[in-house]
Amino acid sequence: MASILVTGGAGYIGSHMVKTLVEAGRDVVVLDDLSTGHEDAVHTKAAFVRGDIRDRDTVLRIVNEHRVEGVVHFAAKIQVGESMVKPRLYFRDNLVATLSLLETLLDASVGTFILSSTAAVYGDPEYTPIDEDHPKRPVNTYGESKLFIEHALRRYHDAYGLRYAALRYFNASGADPAAGLGERHEPESHLIPLVLDAAAGKRKDIGVFGDDWQTRDGTCERDYIHVLDLADAHLAAFDHLKKGGASGAFNLGTGQGTTVKEIVSAVEKVAKRPVPVTIKPRRDGDPAVLVASAKKAEATFGWKAKRADLLQIVGDAWAFHQRTGH
Ligand SMILES: NC(=O)c1ccc[n+]([C@@H]2O[C@H](COP(=O)([O-])OP(=O)(O)OC[C@H]3O[C@@H](n4cnc5c(N)ncnc54)[C@H](O)[C@@H]3O)[C@@H](O)[C@H]2O)c1
Repeated sequence: MASILVTGGAGYIGSHMVKTLVEAGRDVVVLDDLSTGHEDAVHTKAAFVRGDIRDRDTVLRIVNEHRVEGVVHFAAKIQVGESMVKPRLYFRDNLVATLSLLETLLDASVGTFILSSTAAVYGDPEYTPIDEDHPKRPVNTYGESKLFIEHALRRYHDAYGLRYAALRYFNASGADPAAGLGERHEPESHLIPLVLDAAAGKRKDIGVFGDDWQTRDGTCERDYIHVLDLADAHLAAFDHLKKGGASGAFNLGTGQGTTVKEIVSAVEKVAKRPVPVTIKPRRDGDPAVLVASAKKAEATFGWKAKRADLLQIVGDAWAFHQRTGH
């Protein structure tokens, strides 16, 4: 049987993807250099190769040995703040590395490709919910590195017939505690795991950047999407492309905004402990509201978030945190 290559399959979102694919009966091979991933997060029924996506010989060997029919590409650097002080790292490890991977894949006639893109391609929102036609003016190098990759995908589609989906995630969150999978970033920069750490006493408080925004409680509003919903979306997009469906960019979100204060309250409810909060000044570049319109993904490949309940998202993340100590 042909296989799906998952790059970055030992990382947070990639490991949930691998599990979803294996459970759907697909053959999976993971390529990950373990720079931020964890080998123990890779499903035991997936083949695992430790290596870099830039290593042409390794990629070619995987494609031939596993009869790779398509790629889901998670491998990347993901820290927005770091991308501003180390833009070379982000253009090299995200943009150049992905172009190199695409070079190898096109040479090997692998014609289906899914990119982990991001809401950061849009920059400051001009309206909300954000749809795919919203202007793309990234305000950080991370978002820009992904937008450049999207441009290349569109050109490769037009010129070489590459079938692709650039999936623009909003805030990935949640976990699959029963499978022992969850968020283990080091350092952690995402809100929910940081609030969980504050609830567990691993940090003294949670800093909230501004409580005077134009939102219902004055704190920033974001669209939190369960990582298992993200995985389902990739599978739906992959099958859509395989059936000859249209390529393009698609938002993945719930369409619902949740404020920072609402996250803190949900964690307090789930963990049954208070979370100390310190209000800090606003951060540069933080928009008040970032919420997705995911109507295009629903209309094109029939996907809709099923786990949008905040208490489920936070509850799964807390259960993972408690079970594994991460
Ligand atoms: N986490 C989010 O909220 C979020 C939001 C939008 C987009 N994304 C995108 O989703 C993808 C996955 O994010 P994540 O949170 O799972 O990050 P992660 O750091 O947990 O996973 C990335 C994985 O890629 C591997 N990797 C990195 N560079 C590599 C290389 N050159 N060769 C081989 N493997 C390499 C790492 O070891 C790691 O296992 C990224 O592309 C990220 O930009 C994430």
